[in-house]
Amino acid sequence: MTTLLYISLVLLLFSLHGAPPCSAANDTLAAGESLAVGEKLVSRNGRFTLGFFQPSVVSKSGNITSPNWYLGIWFSNISVLTTVWVANRDNPVTALQLNLAQLKISKDGNLVISSNDSIIWSSTIVNRTAATTMNTTSAILSNDGNLVIGSSPNVLWQSFDYPSDVLLPGAKFGWNKITNFVRKFTSKKNLIDPGLGLYYVELDNTGIGLSRSNPFKTYWSWSSEKSSNNLISLLNQLISINPQTRGRINMTYVNNNEEEYYEYILLDQSYYIYVLLDISGQIEINVWSQEKQSWQQVYAQPADPCTAYATCGPFTVCNGISRPFCDCMESFSQKSPRDWELDNRTAGCFRNTPLDCRNTTSSSDVFHTIARVTLPSNPQSVDNATTQSQCAQACLSYCTCNAYSYVNSRCSIWHGDLLSVNKNDGIDNNSEDVLYLRLAAKDMPSLSKSKSKPIVGVVIAASITGFVLVMLMLILLILRKKFGLCGAPLHDSRCGGGILAFRYSDLCHATKNFSEKLGGGGFGSVFKGELSDSTIIAVKKLDGARQGEKQFRAEVSSIGLIQHINLVKLIGFCCEGDERLLVYEHMVNGSLDAHLFQSKATVLNWATRYNLAIGVARGLSYLHQSCNECIIHCDIKPENILLDATFGPKIADFGMAAFVGRNFSRVLTTFRGTVGYLAPEWISGVAITPKVDVYSFGMLLLEILSGRRNSHKVNTDNNSDQVAFFPVQAISKLHEGDVKCLVDPRLNSDFRLEEAERVCKIACWCIQENEFDRPTMSEVVRVLEGLQELDMPPMPRLLAALTDCSVLAHYDSS
Ligand SMILES: *[C@@H]1O[C@H](CO)[C@@H](O)[C@H](O)[C@H]1NC(C)=O
Ligand SMILES: *[C@@H]1O[C@H](CO)[C@@H](O)[C@H](O)[C@H]1NC(C)=O
Ligand SMILES: *[C@@H]1O[C@H](CO)[C@@H](O)[C@H](O)[C@H]1NC(C)=O
Ligand SMILES: *[C@@H]1O[C@H](CO)[C@@H](O)[C@H](O)[C@H]1NC(C)=O
Ligand SMILES: *[C@@H]1O[C@H](CO)[C@@H](O)[C@H](O)[C@H]1NC(C)=O
Ligand SMILES: *[C@@H]1O[C@H](CO)[C@@H](O)[C@H](O)[C@H]1NC(C)=O
Ligand SMILES: *[C@@H]1O[C@H](CO)[C@@H](O)[C@H](O)[C@H]1NC(C)=O
Ligand SMILES: *[C@@H]1O[C@H](CO)[C@@H](O)[C@H](O)[C@H]1NC(C)=O
Ligand SMILES: *[C@@H]1O[C@H](CO)[C@@H](O)[C@H](O)[C@H]1NC(C)=O
Ligand SMILES: *[C@@H]1O[C@H](CO)[C@@H](O)[C@H](O)[C@H]1NC(C)=O
Ligand SMILES: *[C@@H]1O[C@H](CO)[C@@H](O)[C@H](O)[C@H]1NC(C)=O
Repeated sequence: MTTLLYISLVLLLFSLHGAPPCSAANDTLAAGESLAVGEKLVSRNGRFTLGFFQPSVVSKSGNITSPNWYLGIWFSNISVLTTVWVANRDNPVTALQLNLAQLKISKDGNLVISSNDSIIWSSTIVNRTAATTMNTTSAILSNDGNLVIGSSPNVLWQSFDYPSDVLLPGAKFGWNKITNFVRKFTSKKNLIDPGLGLYYVELDNTGIGLSRSNPFKTYWSWSSEKSSNNLISLLNQLISINPQTRGRINMTYVNNNEEEYYEYILLDQSYYIYVLLDISGQIEINVWSQEKQSWQQVYAQPADPCTAYATCGPFTVCNGISRPFCDCMESFSQKSPRDWELDNRTAGCFRNTPLDCRNTTSSSDVFHTIARVTLPSNPQSVDNATTQSQCAQACLSYCTCNAYSYVNSRCSIWHGDLLSVNKNDGIDNNSEDVLYLRLAAKDMPSLSKSKSKPIVGVVIAASITGFVLVMLMLILLILRKKFGLCGAPLHDSRCGGGILAFRYSDLCHATKNFSEKLGGGGFGSVFKGELSDSTIIAVKKLDGARQGEKQFRAEVSSIGLIQHINLVKLIGFCCEGDERLLVYEHMVNGSLDAHLFQSKATVLNWATRYNLAIGVARGLSYLHQSCNECIIHCDIKPENILLDATFGPKIADFGMAAFVGRNFSRVLTTFRGTVGYLAPEWISGVAITPKVDVYSFGMLLLEILSGRRNSHKVNTDNNSDQVAFFPVQAISKLHEGDVKCLVDPRLNSDFRLEEAERVCKIACWCIQENEFDRPTMSEVVRVLEGLQELDMPPMPRLLAALTDCSVLAHYDSS
């Protein structure tokens, strides 16, 4: 799929010194034989090579070569040498040991690397009895890149059980439930040191966990208990939507009494792929491009490279968008530029000028503002600082304090290293928090009389901007005092928001102490209320401090700024202490799902449904083109479409909305939305576009057409074994020219066939796998208004394949 990010990997060159030009290839090392530096084992199919190597990398400052040697396995035939396994990761062969270094099978049956009879590394055969009874042992480099002692079924030891940082096709990622043996993958130290690094991934009885050691922190996990089959189907969807992987690998998950593991199998032997846990803690799937002669990353998890805990080291800002992802904070410098160049950034950065610590009551230090970042881990809260300046003073009064933040009248300060400060560049978290970094007065960018700014105009402009900023901050402070606005500034109301700030007591009064509940969701409950001017309102009370805060901001900064007849109107909000409430106009007819799917409800007639479809399309089209930013709703489904007194639709629930700024065409977010309405690109881990809403809208349209959930299985023909996913059925019936049978039977054929066909056709275009095949929302509006014609949509193969092969077969043959 063209939408995936193809990031060329750093060219990793491992030079192989002294390899004899034409040594006879052999895949077996027998007892009594030895492999010296320069000699190799080659798998029978020629795909993998085992031997001693010296890592080196081409960097900006020239070639950096490790002084040490390692025994490893690499792809024989790939121009960029790529190691997939290293034996002696933390026990390198030094230059002094090199001449006498060799690999051989020792008397106890283990493989050992030794030099002048001293053992550098040894394999660890667990079953000693088997090793001694089997006497004639040998080691074989098998066709899948596995180094095996013994032979199947009597495998005494294999490299696949002791992986480095790479999962090859055919190797298991998992654990043995009887022996409790877990296959653990650990990242490299740096580009030229394959030693054990900071990050590791394993699958054990708690599920998959991606963690950092020292300090320990799990930053990504997937519990198998709840959702293992889900993950495998997501992964297989991902594989099948990407032309670089489609039909080339097959992913399986096994969970029985003995073991639990994931595995992928190569279906196309001319293809090269590997899964890597990289130095910075991301799992990457890489495929080899013959044309480009480089590895291409087709998938990464977590999608945001800043997620790995403290991946950039102390006093850095992680940007998540462009490589390298790490930058030193203002007036800090890289502690170890060489390590930095080798992708080990954990040492981070240090201050150019030490802080003024002579007198804690009159420090001359100043604060530099770093806006829109996630705040560092391990804050210390200062309860008695109730203004921002007291908070700043609290920080200055400790010599070890490096930064403070003041959010929602809460003061936090940080002693020591600042870790995991991640910038909000339209990525994942959308944090609006501000960090105030303590700097020596001399280092303050705007205070220092920098030689690089000799132009008077610039200085004047800067001071005017500064003045305006100060004024703005003053105004904000006054506003905050007066109305109790939240600490973080909301988006400015460029599109004329005009929303009200309510007091909590007002809302208690209006809702009669939250007595009449209209509904509840994942984020809180909705209550009915009445304002003093007798406007009926719906009040959403968000719960869960952190999550609620995020949702609150998303709602206020999206729907708070724009108005449209087909978007629910936000009247106001309340933000007092921990309370986060949103006040909307009340919709008397509730949400669409109740009318579509509940048997008791009165059936919506065709004209109402068609109007509904156009209304939702118009609302979304407006959302996608609103203001300067594009707003992606991210959770379009019948539950989030509200109906007014005349059954006019209004899109609601913007708690998952994402923004795409003018300078970005797509935005990275974590997994959101609802299964059944999710576009395939969500699971690929790449950034999304408004086309995810188009996909969900397509699914919604089909439900409006049929009057039932797409996810419900429907029996086809009279064979009760054959079930099909409704969208698949819709496309095949559309091709057969039989749209009639798709329409809600409760309408008793009282509908306009021409309109139904139009709805079905556009819906099928909306749910195409490739986002570029899907129309934009404004095109959808034109089609529904009858102003634009459409071709026949093709069958999205992934959908068909996911549900029922027989339908696809039928479709193919027709
Ligand atoms: C490979 O090694 C085995 C065992 O030492 C030997 O029998 C065989 O002849 C060798 N094959 C080649 C092609 O060198
Ligand atoms: C290695 O590459 C050459 C040319 O690029 C190709 O002809 C050959 O089949 C490849 N061998 C393997 C084992 O992939
Ligand atoms: C670095 O190594 C590459 C390949 O080994 C070589 O082509 C290049 O000339 C080297 N560059 C320097 C500056 O040594
Ligand atoms: C090998 O080890 C022996 C005994 O430890 C020592 O005398 C000899 O010098 C060593 N040889 C080399 C080449 O290091
Ligand atoms: C060790 O190997 C022997 C012989 O292959 C086998 O009978 C025995 O079950 C193995 N023991 C374990 C603990 O796997
Ligand atoms: C193992 O094999 C070697 C030679 O192949 C033989 O000398 C030795 O006696 C055998 N040992 C056992 C325990 O069978
Ligand atoms: C990274 O480099 C620092 C020195 O800059 C070193 O102390 C640390 O051990 C290195 N980390 C790893 C994982 O090699
Ligand atoms: C993938 O593996 C599964 C389970 O092993 C199997 O049922 C399926 O047929 C395989 N698919 C392909 C395309 O080989
Ligand atoms: C996003 O925010 C959550 C808390 O809301 C935090 O745990 C997580 O580390 C953040 N992720 C990134 C990439 O900053
Ligand atoms: C610290 O500064 C304050 C205010 O300038 C002054 O009163 C005090 O004497 C100073 N203390 C020391 C130890 O210099
Ligand atoms: C807050 O408390 C600390 C001691 O707990 C005290 O040193 C400091 O002066 C207090 N700050 C304010 C603003 O009251």
